[in-house]
Amino acid sequence: MHELTKQIVVITGSARGIGLAIAQRFASAQATVIVIDLNAELVDKAVQSLKAQGGKAFGYIGNVTDGKAIEELFARIVAEHGAIDTLINNAGVTRDNLVLRMKEEEWQLVMDINLKGTFICTQKVFKHMMKARQGSIINIASVIGLMGNAGQANYAASKGGMIAFTKSCAKEFASRNVRVNAVAPGFIETEMTAALSDDVRASYAKAIPLGKMGSPDEIAKLCLFLASEDSSYITGQTIAVDGGLTMH
Ligand code: NAI
Repeated sequence: MHELTKQIVVITGSARGIGLAIAQRFASAQATVIVIDLNAELVDKAVQSLKAQGGKAFGYIGNVTDGKAIEELFARIVAEHGAIDTLINNAGVTRDNLVLRMKEEEWQLVMDINLKGTFICTQKVFKHMMKARQGSIINIASVIGLMGNAGQANYAASKGGMIAFTKSCAKEFASRNVRVNAVAPGFIETEMTAALSDDVRASYAKAIPLGKMGSPDEIAKLCLFLASEDSSYITGQTIAVDGGLTMH
């Protein structure tokens, strides 16, 4: 297990789902975990659960689309905790529709939160990481950003954009010893996917070489590796955690 005792890790959208699973993994590795999410009640609940498992956790309300607020929040976190060693851009949403029926607002909301939110948090954190001359930024993309998906053109464009953004930042930030990688989860068991019927789940499972959906913790384990010194020579990569669904 990777030991991250001195790490301060900021995870956006981590009050629930994959983000919370990532927070739990980092808390178990003794990192200081900073939970950022939209809703105070959910943030408090997440922080209490992380503390109950023996983790060092702090919660802040933040909207990744608000550049000024994120800039102030990151400055406050650095002042209060000393640094931000790892940023995980995990906050994300879907607004599925066929292209022909898609409203401009559905397109824009997904681009704003998934892609622009990633840009904003990355830009604001890099100011601190470049001074520290070290850091790891991990962008939670999706296999949909690699494969595309009918009914998810806005989401696919945002996640594909995150992958291209990851590569550009990796090139820009490398001389400051800041690494940037993307994780592309496949079909993961979350509240979102729990609502699917058994038939739909069985048909998805058939398309996956490993024959089953993944768990949020399987995403978290890769994040831990990408945050640690064990991945010190890895930057600009997109790593799929998808049971073999995509191979390239
Ligand atoms: P979720 O909906 O359970 O959690 C997303 C969290 O982000 C929520 O707590 C929400 O409040 C927060 N959030 C939304 N907008 C925000 C904003 N503007 N500022 C700050 N926080 C905000 O979603 P889930 O399933 O845990 O997904 C997490 C990430 O993983 C997303 O980026 C998603 O696209 C990606 N992903 C999920 C997959 C899955 O199967 N669940 C598959 C591939 C990628």
